[in-house]
Amino acid sequence: MDYPSFLFLSLFLISIYVYIISGRRNSRLPPGPYPLPVIGNLFQLSNKPHRSLATLSKRYGPLMSLKLGSKTTIVVSSPDMAKELFHTNDKLFSSRSVPNILRLMDRHKYSMVFLPAGEQWRRLRRISREYLLSGQCLDASQQLRMEKVHELLDHVSQCCINEKAVNVGAAAFTTAVNILSNLIFSKDLCQYVSSESQEFKDAIWGVMEISGKPNLVDFFPILSPLDPQGLTRQGRVYFQKLYGIFDRIIDQRLETRASSSSDEDLKSTKKDLLDVLLNLLNFKDESKFSRNGLIHLLMDLFIAGADTTSTTFEWAMTELIRNPKKMETARLEITKLIQNNKMHIQEKHISQLPYLQAITKETLRLYPPAPFLIPHEAIHDVEIQGFVVPKNAQILCNVWAIGRDLNIWSDPETFMPERFLEADIDYRGQNFELIPFGSGRRICPGLNAAHRMLHVMLGSLIQKFDWKLEGNMKVEDMNMEEKFGLTCPRNVPLMAVPIKL
Ligand code: HEM
Repeated sequence: MDYPSFLFLSLFLISIYVYIISGRRNSRLPPGPYPLPVIGNLFQLSNKPHRSLATLSKRYGPLMSLKLGSKTTIVVSSPDMAKELFHTNDKLFSSRSVPNILRLMDRHKYSMVFLPAGEQWRRLRRISREYLLSGQCLDASQQLRMEKVHELLDHVSQCCINEKAVNVGAAAFTTAVNILSNLIFSKDLCQYVSSESQEFKDAIWGVMEISGKPNLVDFFPILSPLDPQGLTRQGRVYFQKLYGIFDRIIDQRLETRASSSSDEDLKSTKKDLLDVLLNLLNFKDESKFSRNGLIHLLMDLFIAGADTTSTTFEWAMTELIRNPKKMETARLEITKLIQNNKMHIQEKHISQLPYLQAITKETLRLYPPAPFLIPHEAIHDVEIQGFVVPKNAQILCNVWAIGRDLNIWSDPETFMPERFLEADIDYRGQNFELIPFGSGRRICPGLNAAHRMLHVMLGSLIQKFDWKLEGNMKVEDMNMEEKFGLTCPRNVPLMAVPIKL
């Protein structure tokens, strides 16, 4: 480059920088690190952004602003601030920041997870609550979940007989998927033994992997047509696979229904959720509940529901294996309640197992599967404690940082379920120091389902088995690192050998 061009380029970059900085000084954005031209604060994020942002917020405070490429991002890192945004100003922050990958197959136009909080979103939340996730529906489907938990126990027993380690996260994932798929379609979509067909597992894990990778296009939308990391191309393959699986299931069901005797028969015999949803379909008006909308709803439920549950389960088992005394305390609590070892723990027992519940809370405090919730977006400029959160800013609520804040929790890095025996704190969105499911109108609609699945799965595996690490590894040598993505699972899968009790 010749000297005049170099001079021109330098002046140009300096003026952009000065423009950004002066704009920032004059604006009433919350405090935050100064952004570099073009890339903003991207280099201040490591491959574990929840950790980097927790460190930065210690310096800049619980309401912090950054520039991630061209995206203004607001990071919330205290219970008070979370309450201010998701309770006091809930409606104003109820929209979603939509990642580029979600534009694939028009998911942003159909997905309950990413639609703005308008009429279509309300309809989808109502449908999922009314027919699948309400307390009443969950009570009615209890037996089915128990059957799936017994299959998990059978798989673990088989590993026990063969003296084989269980891949705890993968087994829990299979259970969670099959619970959902049986509630919805009355069939299994996953198998425990990996030699069998894994089409669904591959598709859903592919979607999770691709969607969890930081995508340059989200920070620099101008790069969208280039797809520099190839994520859109790969994502399309997985989304199409998943879409195809659900499409085929719907076709098969429609054929079965067509060969059924009469229309009246169909309406009166509501077998599973798919039957109910097919009865609700509006074939004439795409803007209502269409076949396409149904497939996207199914994708939402599996993508949002399976990995979050299995990741939490894997971390809970990890901490219990690291802390055998706590595992023993939990087992004693269960055996005191259910004295006959042949009997299984059921959902009705959960409320009588405070220590087991405390284990789940403590796990979700230390390892929230969605460390930033799902990014929200401001629907217009909002004044918060003298600062302005601008319209369209992306909001990350760092629940991981809140869960490990010394000002809130004593000895926050230590797994100590006992802390919840003394404190009246729950994760249902009222106690802002513990909101792994979010709070306000965007709170996770699957909270109650997850609550039931997690406790019964965990309680059953503790009640029936003791556990040791594969290859007699010492607990001190366990790798406790997490992997950041759509969820935050263990970096190294937990492989544990069950011992029959
Ligand atoms: C341990 C298990 C789970 C955790 C920790 C979890 C956590 C979350 C979080 C943090 C959000 C976003 C809240 C926000 O943005 O403020 C969310 C949303 C959502 N979750 Fe869950 N979830 C779990 C299980 C489930 C299950 C079992 C289902 C359904 C079967 C489900 C379905 C959804 C859906 C559809 C949304 C989007 C709601 C919306 O945007 O309106 N989740 N979940």
